[in-house]
Amino acid sequence: MCGIIGYTGHRPAVPVLVEGLRRLEYRGYDSAGVAYVQNGEMSVLRAEGKLASLEEKVAGVSHHLATTGIGHTRWATHGVPVERNAHPHVDNSGRLAMIHNGIIENFEEQREWLKERGYHFNSDTDSEVLVNLISEGMKADRSLPEAISWALGRVEGAYAIVVLDCTDPERLYAARHASPMVFGKGVGENFVASDIPAFLPYTREVIFLDDDELVELTPSSWRVMDVKTLEPVEKTIDHINWDVQAAQKGGYKHFMLKEIFEQPKVITDCFAGRINMQDMSVQLPELESLAAPKRLHILACGTSYHAGMWGKYLIESWARIPVSVEIASEFRYRDLILDEDDVVLSISQSGETADTLAGMRRAKEFGATIIGLCNVVGSSVAREADHVLYTQAGPEISVASTKAMCSQLVLLYLLAMHWGRQKKTLPDDVRDNAVKSILALPTVLETELPRLRTRATELSRLYSASHSFMYLGRGFQFPLALEGALKLKEISYIHAEGYASGEMKHGPIALIDPEFPTFALALHDELFLKVKSNLEEVQARGGRIIALTHPGLDLNVTDPWIIPELWGPLDSFMALSCLQLFAYEVADYLGKDVDQPRNLAKSVTVE
Ligand code: F6R
Repeated sequence: MCGIIGYTGHRPAVPVLVEGLRRLEYRGYDSAGVAYVQNGEMSVLRAEGKLASLEEKVAGVSHHLATTGIGHTRWATHGVPVERNAHPHVDNSGRLAMIHNGIIENFEEQREWLKERGYHFNSDTDSEVLVNLISEGMKADRSLPEAISWALGRVEGAYAIVVLDCTDPERLYAARHASPMVFGKGVGENFVASDIPAFLPYTREVIFLDDDELVELTPSSWRVMDVKTLEPVEKTIDHINWDVQAAQKGGYKHFMLKEIFEQPKVITDCFAGRINMQDMSVQLPELESLAAPKRLHILACGTSYHAGMWGKYLIESWARIPVSVEIASEFRYRDLILDEDDVVLSISQSGETADTLAGMRRAKEFGATIIGLCNVVGSSVAREADHVLYTQAGPEISVASTKAMCSQLVLLYLLAMHWGRQKKTLPDDVRDNAVKSILALPTVLETELPRLRTRATELSRLYSASHSFMYLGRGFQFPLALEGALKLKEISYIHAEGYASGEMKHGPIALIDPEFPTFALALHDELFLKVKSNLEEVQARGGRIIALTHPGLDLNVTDPWIIPELWGPLDSFMALSCLQLFAYEVADYLGKDVDQPRNLAKSVTVE
């Protein structure tokens, strides 16, 4: 998630911008930059890596006369995290500089269109395409706001942009669509930013911009317009009374909770540009040159491994490809049987997990083709894989992985559809349902999340004194049972075991007594009656049960948790949120350091 700040006022702009970017650092970034106008000339300073590198560059030049500017911290989505891809981007004429947060889905088409008109590009980004599109818009005698409106009418996707014009250096324009943007109203100065902490030391008067609004700022004036018609829009001013730290977490107590609540947006961002509504097909250009594999090996650790297990069920069912799912730390040391026809799918949020990387490298020695499925652009997995699929989930700050798994499931779902179509094994009606249902999922999940959290809180109060938990599930819900147990033990330090429900009678049932509760996934699918009979065995031994279940199912358990029924495999997304929220609420109730559990670091990069 990129960080954005724009300033116009009476202070030297560059220190305000750099300081604002510092307060947005928690969002994660891999490069940073600022643009300002001094003596009528546009200056752009950009640096790869941490803000300190940008600060070094800033310290080496004179900028104190510039009182308007824009600043950006970039989390790579298009193009590797190097200086030429860092923002701000300048149009070919050198007149406009722009910062952008979001993803322009049809940027390739627009880039080709601009190239035909003589434009050249210095970066791999969608953002440089957009600033040149605005510039092209101005050629037809449009004013800058008209050109912004025209250019934004041509692009599809998500954006929050701020534009600086060196011929009118006190004026900024900012617009948004499906990416956050807030305007800060000061005295003799005004701000825009992706998040309030960027300008909180200067003003607490804010206006939240809505989708498709454009704001024009000078030090002493502001007006909000509809980006399509440029007609004025009435806005109300809100007063902020949070402190900076709370605001960085968007008002959530922990990053883990914030990231769970980001999941609807993460799902949208993950399928953005990957579904063609005309023929209901999945577009994965990254895999264009690769035929559907004869055999697939999924390689991962921890939560990513659970995502891989879930993917196996779907890829086998929709694409009829045999899939083995491998714990990377085992795979890398095994006496492997692989050849050039094998395809290995390495799943890793960070793209830096040592075992996953080592497993990939071993598979390469056998000539296998490697697909990386990861979140961090330019990470080792991404660089070393033959093909890369990015989850586009934004940085995950909490150590316990939540939204990353959600995005991995989306991509595995799309992958199963993609190969199912290639192999003609996915019936048209299933494909149509799969597309329609996943498009509707973010809204349903967003509506339900507050209710799910309330139930998770109630249950956490009833169960947090337990010392051990059993998590049970079958089919798609089995990997989720493993994930639920992992989340609980990882952040609350309560022992938990995940089992395939059918395995319970082969030993673990001996553990069940009134002190040893079970968290069951008993959703409405073809295995429901089997799960139900497993739960009856638990009850017969006096075990208390929390059961995630659907309305209308005949299930008699201690604490049912009834969630809306979705379509087929998509029920797993709602269930996953419940498991994450329950673990979160238990850990928080027990006073644990939820975002930074003991003995754990974000990615396990050491041997
Ligand atoms: C659990 C968790 C870990 C990671 C695992 C793999 O909440 O975060 O189990 O899933 O260390 O990390 P990546 O996906 O970065 O390879």
